Amino acid sequence: MILTSTMTGIDSPDPLQHAFKVKSAPHAARSGSRPVTVDDALWQQWWQTPTQADKRALYIHIPFCRKRCSFCNFFENGAKPERISHYMTTLCQQLTTAAQTPLAQSQPFDTVYVGGGTPTDITADEIAQLGQAIQGFPLVANAEVTLEGRLNGFDDDKFNHALDNGFNRFSFGVQSFDTEVRKAAGRFDDKDRLLARLQQLSQHPTASIVIDLIFGLPGQTMDIWQQDIQAAMDSGAHGVDLYQLIALAGNRIDKAGEKGKILGTDNSDFQADSQTRANMYAYGAKTFEENQWQRLSSCHWRSDERERSIYNSLAKSGIEILPFGAGGGGNIHGYSMMNARGLSEWHQAQVTTESYSSDASLAAKLAPAKVPAMTLSPNPLVHFDAIFKRGLDSGVLDFNNLAPKVVAHLKPLFEAWQQHGLATLDDNGLSLTLAGRFWNVNMQTGLFEFFDKNPIV
Ligand SMILES: C[S@@+](CC[C@H](N)C(=O)[O-])C[C@H]1O[C@@H](n2cnc3c(N)ncnc32)[C@H](O)[C@@H]1O
Ligand code: SF4
Repeated sequence: MILTSTMTGIDSPDPLQHAFKVKSAPHAARSGSRPVTVDDALWQQWWQTPTQADKRALYIHIPFCRKRCSFCNFFENGAKPERISHYMTTLCQQLTTAAQTPLAQSQPFDTVYVGGGTPTDITADEIAQLGQAIQGFPLVANAEVTLEGRLNGFDDDKFNHALDNGFNRFSFGVQSFDTEVRKAAGRFDDKDRLLARLQQLSQHPTASIVIDLIFGLPGQTMDIWQQDIQAAMDSGAHGVDLYQLIALAGNRIDKAGEKGKILGTDNSDFQADSQTRANMYAYGAKTFEENQWQRLSSCHWRSDERERSIYNSLAKSGIEILPFGAGGGGNIHGYSMMNARGLSEWHQAQVTTESYSSDASLAAKLAPAKVPAMTLSPNPLVHFDAIFKRGLDSGVLDFNNLAPKVVAHLKPLFEAWQQHGLATLDDNGLSLTLAGRFWNVNMQTGLFEFFDKNPIV
């Protein structure tokens, strides 16, 4: 039996701060797949074959931003109106075609996520067209349909067009409410404006308004973070995500760091270390829960039951996700895939597929353009691994979902987590402590490492 500290964490008087050195990655995963080539015939076959999945989602990517924020490396293309309108026209055509295929029609979709980039930067009319294209797919009653983006430029006209065309959840990146921290991060709008707009939008009787906050931004002291948490509660938002700043190669913070600089505010070059970030997480988690916000996952809380976070929770369960748009990722019939990221490559793929010149029999069949840049074979462990990903992310691993043999195999790891203050263990399952919830991605990564080094025979 091999147990390493990257699996178990270390013994320390303060596991919240010290169980692991640093967050290992944004997400945990292990690969059981190999790259495959998708030819026209296989692509066609996918869209003509009904799904085997019982839960499914659509992911639609809108890769445009007006500004490159310091912390982010999701920026892909500047938001030029003609470029966006050309993209949206093509994207809506693709969605309309895809919606009519046997694959799309074979089972309703539980949730739809329009992410980016900044989808809220498209026009009100484009939001309406996109919403209508989405409604062409079979959706379950009360399906969750999310539009991601930010508050700047998201006026009443856009909100109303979105609501009238099926969107019922709005996820806004706030990151920090602090005006100086925001300025340093390259964000628009000051605190008062953000709060006023959120309070207005949250008045809607049914739409779910969700905000993202990041802890660990340059210049964001503990004091400012405490004000951020208070502002989130004052904003009227129905859900909040708390994300630890991840050092992403190539973003502006990272590039400044390489030159020994911190992109702080005029008043502060403070950059929280891993221990301070742990305390920031703990402060946010405790404050929400003391104020009756309900925890839905290790990083997401809600103040109102209209907020369900269906996409985020199902995506961690390895469900089918049909991906659309340049750079969109998902999986079809168990094959995970990522669409071509470059805009011209993505547009070119539409033209090439429309011709299907090599085989007339394929041209007659309905399918969206073939745009995958990378496709992986089905991972036989996807559902097994999802039990751990989803369980540890939610804070509770229920042993009823696992074979007794698997629980027995993992017991040394679970006991080490308990000893290190990351979880409590009983016959029914494993419950993560606050420290465990902060380190849950390291625990997921550690668990997959445990399986690799100690395979179940
Ligand atoms: C794809 S981004 C879209 C955000 C939206 N366009 C905006 O401007 O707020 C989704 C979320 O990822 C999070 N994010 C981006 N970069 C991050 C980083 N380096 N570390 C942690 N979270 C990050 C942010 O909270 C952001 O709201
Ligand atoms: S935070 Fe949003 S607007 Fe800023 S670069 Fe990332 S995706 Fe674009």
